[in-house]
Amino acid sequence: VNELHKYVVGPVSSVPPGSQRRVDVAGRAVAVFNVDGRYYALRDVCPHRGAALSAGLVVGSFGATAPGAYLYDPSRPLVRCPWHGWEYDLVTGQSWCDAGSRVRALQVSVESGRSMLEAGAGEERVPGPYVAETVRISVEDDYIVVEA
Ligand code: FES
Repeated sequence: VNELHKYVVGPVSSVPPGSQRRVDVAGRAVAVFNVDGRYYALRDVCPHRGAALSAGLVVGSFGATAPGAYLYDPSRPLVRCPWHGWEYDLVTGQSWCDAGSRVRALQVSVESGRSMLEAGAGEERVPGPYVAETVRISVEDDYIVVEA
């Protein structure tokens, strides 16, 4: 059984709404997206040919209520790979182009610096469930935390 750790990838201001960023989590590239204030994280490697999904375009998804009647759903965002246009669900990592393909989706949350520092008893490198090797944590800020 692989144990999950929480990695602090940066303050919330480092990925403002409408943006995305490639970050390093435990030596692996992860794409973090902020879509209207909600955060999503995927491994930053397209299963097709390996492009960085952090360079992709985020779009809403289409559903169909009846043949020919399409419904645009902005609450179900997808990222479109910049190389060949395959699309992946930001929540599950499921490919919408090749049903057998999936990119790993990671849990992402926002946590307060205060709660992390309390969990780490005030040490600068936060121990326990958090790993923050390059991010200085301050009490005033909120941080994006990815589980991997
Ligand atoms: S590398 Fe992503 S669709 Fe081809």
